[in-house]
Amino acid sequence: MEKYKYTQTWFLQVEIKDELLNFISDKDEHNILEIGCFEGLSSVFFSDNLLNYPSSSMICVDPFLTINNNDHNEFLRGEAEANFDYNISQSKNFTKITVYKTTSDDFFLTNDQTFDFIYVDGCHLPDFVSRDMENSFKCLKVNGIMWMDDYCKTTECKEAMDNFLKLHINQYTIIHKGYQLAIKKLSPIDNESCYEIYVLSYNNCEREERMIKRFNEIKITPNICSFKENDNRVRILIENGVDKSHAGGLGCFFNFLKLMEDFYANSSKEFGIFLENDVFIKKQLGFDLPNVCYNLKKLNLDVLLIGYLLDDTPDAWGLTLLHIDEFGNKYYDFGDNVYGTQGFILTRSQAKYFIDKYTIDYVLDTKETIAADWIYTKQGNKALLYPPLVVEEGIIEGNHYGQVSFHRSCKEFLYNDSFTS
Ligand SMILES: C[S@@+](CC[C@H](N)C(=O)[O-])C[C@H]1O[C@@H](n2cnc3c(N)ncnc32)[C@H](O)[C@@H]1O
Repeated sequence: MEKYKYTQTWFLQVEIKDELLNFISDKDEHNILEIGCFEGLSSVFFSDNLLNYPSSSMICVDPFLTINNNDHNEFLRGEAEANFDYNISQSKNFTKITVYKTTSDDFFLTNDQTFDFIYVDGCHLPDFVSRDMENSFKCLKVNGIMWMDDYCKTTECKEAMDNFLKLHINQYTIIHKGYQLAIKKLSPIDNESCYEIYVLSYNNCEREERMIKRFNEIKITPNICSFKENDNRVRILIENGVDKSHAGGLGCFFNFLKLMEDFYANSSKEFGIFLENDVFIKKQLGFDLPNVCYNLKKLNLDVLLIGYLLDDTPDAWGLTLLHIDEFGNKYYDFGDNVYGTQGFILTRSQAKYFIDKYTIDYVLDTKETIAADWIYTKQGNKALLYPPLVVEEGIIEGNHYGQVSFHRSCKEFLYNDSFTS
């Protein structure tokens, strides 16, 4: 630090300098693009740490005072540009740096190179942020990292970045979200992201058709799996004296288990999303799921309940708030109080845990209550997501008035026009 000249040390306050080396190695080849360099504190960090491999290179883009309306004018009037020139000349891999003293828009007009790491820290006006993200993402290599400063600087900055995330859903994974935002570009093959969706389809054609229509509307293809009335495991249990009146609940339990077995055997995704087939789906499901899965991992959860029976807010139900994510979604500890298996997410290892544990021999011997909403959403490190991602239609068969009206009032409370109809 002593040999360099800085008047501002913004870069020392942000997460990238501690986090970046968790995602890229200082020993590999890197082709870096940096938009917005100022005195070169970030440029020097990249030059000193990431350009060691012989063929590595970095392009630095900053117009300094060559344009009239630079949003950093007030900082640039002094020695900033001279400091930049001096600082990078002192950095470890100076000879691998090319500088463009122009705007990022002008740079992108003629650029034909691609990069595996791009740091976006130029003009912070929302239109500029959007264009820098769009243009950068186009020349970002698959598996490359795009790291944005000032995600939380202003609501406008955040909105611009969130809009980019919405527009490019399934084309990236979020690898960091704090004051800064960082994403990794996915290849078109794995752009379905980190999860696989399974819908347990009870044998009711109309319900199934409604679900297919809803998924078509939001452009997502789930695995629709038919409910097996004659599940072999239920038959064995009944032959062994289990009360027939429990067959329906047991059928549901084992059919969900079958979905988990399919997920574990046929998918390599990190998360399984399991849904019943009588639910309205959040229109932004494709946008919400990568973010929710990211938070599930961050909170070290095994299970996240995303569709359930609540007829009032979790706070009114007395649940404990664990976390609020960047998009305002709330994660609650729900103890044993909330029911419903309308929608839940399991990690791969939790699905395996259920598959291994609930063998027919175990179920025959156990005194545990074997029911889907007593087991699958009540074990492991668990939380409930509010607002939910799916809401039960609220049409239930049966003549227990309390149950029928409770389901109906849950639907009335939870459903709104952010869900499919
Ligand atoms: C926050 S500073 C960069 C700080 C630097 N990355 C660091 O961490 O030390 C923002 C820089 O963006 C530059 N800038 C402003 N408008 C720009 C544009 N249209 N294209 C590229 N850079 C721009 C400014 O000149 C300023 O130097």
